Amino acid sequence: MQALTIVILLFFCKAAELRKTGPGTSRSKAHHGRANGDRRAWGPVKRYAPGLPCDIYSYLHEKYLDCQERRLVYVLADWPEDLIHMLLARNKIRTLKNSMFAKFRKLKSLDLQQNDISKIETDAFFGLSRLTTLLLQHNRIKVLTEEVFIHTPLLNYLRLYDNPWRCSCEMETLVTMLQIPRNRNLGNYAKCEGPEDRKNQKLKELKVEELCDEDQKPPAPRNQAVGKPPVIKPVVDSSLCHIYVFPIQTLDCKRKELRKIPTNIPPDIVKLDLSNNKINQLRPKEFEDVHELKRLNLSSNGIEFIDPAAFSGLTHLEELDLTNNSLQNFDYGVLEDLYFLKILWLKDNPWRCDYNIHYLYYWLRHHYNVHYNGLECKAPTEYKGWFVGKYVRSYFEECPKDLLPSYPDQDPEDEEWDKIHKEHIAKTQGVRITVIG
Ligand SMILES: *[C@@H]1O[C@H](CO)[C@@H](O)[C@H](O)[C@H]1NC(C)=O
Ligand SMILES: *[C@@H]1O[C@H](CO)[C@@H](O)[C@H](O)[C@H]1NC(C)=O
Repeated sequence: MQALTIVILLFFCKAAELRKTGPGTSRSKAHHGRANGDRRAWGPVKRYAPGLPCDIYSYLHEKYLDCQERRLVYVLADWPEDLIHMLLARNKIRTLKNSMFAKFRKLKSLDLQQNDISKIETDAFFGLSRLTTLLLQHNRIKVLTEEVFIHTPLLNYLRLYDNPWRCSCEMETLVTMLQIPRNRNLGNYAKCEGPEDRKNQKLKELKVEELCDEDQKPPAPRNQAVGKPPVIKPVVDSSLCHIYVFPIQTLDCKRKELRKIPTNIPPDIVKLDLSNNKINQLRPKEFEDVHELKRLNLSSNGIEFIDPAAFSGLTHLEELDLTNNSLQNFDYGVLEDLYFLKILWLKDNPWRCDYNIHYLYYWLRHHYNVHYNGLECKAPTEYKGWFVGKYVRSYFEECPKDLLPSYPDQDPEDEEWDKIHKEHIAKTQGVRITVIG
């Protein structure tokens, strides 16, 4: 009997809700009296500016040279000798010549990614006896030998991926070096581009003893390659973006006109800035390979829909910025993988206060250590400007209190959370809840 009462009551509440959100209520966009109080005073970033002086600065008592994206082809004579970190990403360097860095004897890190490097002379790193980090990803290097690294005994972090490695006998010494267990951060993710039978094999996983075998016994043709689905070329490549290594691994894809999440995001990125692009939806498993990600900025994209599995795998994410998008609610499940979320930015979205917003609200209530802001109803008109929490409470007040079933130890809102869970399960299992009426 009581069960029937609940069903009927819920039916009436729903009906009331439907009436309210029915015709006559406009999906008015909020007027934006937006306070830009937290806007930073960065100037516009200048790109492709040859001839611009490089930035030299100190951070935590270490001297940096930032000469990224300057169309450099060589190191410049006037750079100070006591540099500790040298950032030369996204230039036009083609060849690393012998003793090119010899005067920078204190250098600990050298970032040469996203240049046009195809040749590294044997003594190119002469003098870099303190170098620990060397970034060579996104270049055109085909072959390299261990000999090049004789000058860098302290090297413990080396990036080589996204180079067209030709995995033949010449590479034997390098591959051997990369596979020494102690060198676990050298050359990860780098893959062979050729020869055909080694294509896409990781340098770390090649069978070294077979590299120089070629002439004696040609490799057996690989049958399993035949039935494989064709590899789909990435549409948007993360090489459009800037990579920074210090102080934390950051991929900056701000304002790149992106319509999709870029592929090939380096797996060790900790901070990813995708703000001010044109990504209007998040599809399932968009960030599956970026396990270390802690901060994700998706603000100002016009996102309308987030698939419930979009954030799957982001178990370490701590901060998610969704400010200034076109979100009206979250589908059930969107937040379930974010175990370590601490801050969620929700401002300036057209949150619509109807039953579909309950999931977001109850998730936040149950994860009370997650700080959030900006959860304010923008539609329908009668709730505009209300906090979503106030709206949800009013949703219950619609139903005459004395008629609500009373469970002495349970907060009616917790009960609502259970209900959302159950409804979801019912929906996903295709079970219909029949309403008697
Ligand atoms: C996200 O990016 C926007 C615009 O680039 C910036 O204003 C905002 O502070 C960023 N959010 C976080 C949490 O850093
Ligand atoms: C909000 O996002 C739109 C694009 O969706 C952008 O044109 C606008 O400048 C953004 N507003 C702010 C304050 O960043």
